[in-house]
Amino acid sequence: MIGKGAMAEVIEYGKDKVCKLFYEDCSEEFIKLEYKNAIEMYKNNITIPKPFEIINLQNRKGIIYERIYGKTLSHFLNGDNKNKMLELFVDLHRNMLSHHSKNMLSYKEFIKKILNRSSNKNHDFIKQINMLPDGTNICHGDLHPKNIIIKSDGTAVIIDFTSACCGPFLCDIARTFFILNTDNNSFLANEYLEKMNVLETDIKEYINVFEKLHKYEKLIGKANIKK
Ligand SMILES: Nc1ncnc2c1ncn2[C@@H]1O[C@H](COP(=O)(O)OP(=O)(O)OP(=O)(O)O)[C@@H](O)[C@H]1O
Ligand SMILES: [Mg+2]
Repeated sequence: MIGKGAMAEVIEYGKDKVCKLFYEDCSEEFIKLEYKNAIEMYKNNITIPKPFEIINLQNRKGIIYERIYGKTLSHFLNGDNKNKMLELFVDLHRNMLSHHSKNMLSYKEFIKKILNRSSNKNHDFIKQINMLPDGTNICHGDLHPKNIIIKSDGTAVIIDFTSACCGPFLCDIARTFFILNTDNNSFLANEYLEKMNVLETDIKEYINVFEKLHKYEKLIGKANIKK
């Protein structure tokens, strides 16, 4: 096995390919969404592994991707090169956010999909989400150092597209800041935000929504996505 996450195991699949093999209880809707997102991001020349197809394997669904040889960015954020790697992270995120798409789910629709999986509907929360700004920037929705692979030539490659969507770029910056903070990495979170040239006050409306959403995510399971 090459890697493992909350949704899938990633295994070798022939020469220079991997299969992201989703656990049996992952909803097919979200697997298809990840594949569609990957195709759209690849078409936009964002540095991601080439997506090939969805397959059935051992009663589970898998997505075949190009194999990226390297280590995740999380391995490099404590060493001597920390500052350089943080710059790489910020440049990569800025570059991704400079692309636009109208073919991806909006982040508001994505958040509401998560809420729909909970029996506990909160209409005030849905109203709050609807009032947030719209946007067309390509957002990852889960961009943190374990979802970036650094190749031996130093190129950074983004992986894991289940939560990708489109929205205002500040929303995705807020999402990364929030994830780093909930991972008990507030020092890194603050450094990241500073290098992005964004103030906490610029993203407070999104952070407030992510804090509320987090309660649902904990109830439903990692990133919502179980059947
Ligand atoms: N194309 C790839 N080439 C090489 N390794 C990969 C590739 N895609 C994923 N991996 C490895 O597998 C791990 C898990 O992949 P991924 O993040 O897509 O799974 P996940 O279950 O969605 O994770 P999460 O827990 O973030 O939801 C990665 O951290 C990475 O080490
Ligand atoms: Mg992941």
